[in-house]
Amino acid sequence: MGDLAGRVVIITGARRGLGRDFAKLFAADGAHVVLADIQDASAATQAASETGPRCIAVQTDVTDRASVDALMAATLAEFGRLDVLINNAALWREPESYGILDCPLDVWNATWAVNLTGVLNCYQAAVPLMREGGFGRIINVSSTASATGSNSYGLSKCALELMTSGMAREVGKDAITVNSIVPGICAFSGAKGQLPGFDQILARIPLGRVGSSQDLYAAMAYLCSDAAGWVTGENMVLDGGLSTR
Ligand SMILES: NC(=O)c1ccc[n+]([C@@H]2O[C@H](COP(=O)([O-])OP(=O)(O)OC[C@H]3O[C@@H](n4cnc5c(N)ncnc54)[C@H](O)[C@@H]3O)[C@@H](O)[C@H]2O)c1
Repeated sequence: MGDLAGRVVIITGARRGLGRDFAKLFAADGAHVVLADIQDASAATQAASETGPRCIAVQTDVTDRASVDALMAATLAEFGRLDVLINNAALWREPESYGILDCPLDVWNATWAVNLTGVLNCYQAAVPLMREGGFGRIINVSSTASATGSNSYGLSKCALELMTSGMAREVGKDAITVNSIVPGICAFSGAKGQLPGFDQILARIPLGRVGSSQDLYAAMAYLCSDAAGWVTGENMVLDGGLSTR
């Protein structure tokens, strides 16, 4: 077990997909994980607890500050502190294929509410707990869709990466680092079915495959480690080399 043993980690959007896998991987490295999801995450929590120390589920709507405050209170009540926050919850409604011109306002607002305001709420509520503990690692889960800016999802992730820099500058003096990971196409994309031209994109990935949860987790575990204590404000692209020029 490494630096994560005994750490207390909140992962938002952990009921399914990448968040669920991240919970299992953090737990397997000895962390107590709080799985925060708008839907019931008890099955994912049980799976994570089987691989490591005790984990809990706290049903949370990240867009609602009161709900996020209750998440922090439940974490403190259970584990006494907070070390790591993984802002993973996100909405991706673009399979419905809206651009900017035709994006319905409800899709636009819902995307920004989860992908940006949700991160804001969790950040504002988590930092006082991390200050108290004298240690903090915050990782925002972005996407290489941030590079194109062609829909509400990509634009929200673009803003998230800039927000990461601003957060890093704000809380560095408190020994809290803030970084983002910027995944490309991953096994959980729903990409296969939903992304136009998936096979052509796959052929252009230098490492010849889509990413796995483990690929992303390895980077996050590094960013959470003591060795990464001087790394902050980074947007770490993890895409098998697809975006190299
Ligand atoms: N899957 C990929 O290939 C891929 C690629 C690049 C980036 N990402 C990013 O990785 C993260 C996870 O992606 P995924 O594909 O596993 O997502 P997903 O859609 O499978 O899961 C998202 C989770 O967030 C939860 N959620 C939604 N709204 C919420 C709210 N208001 N409060 C709390 N929880 C809420 C959902 O219930 C769900 O469990 C996202 O930030 C996504 O943008 C994913």
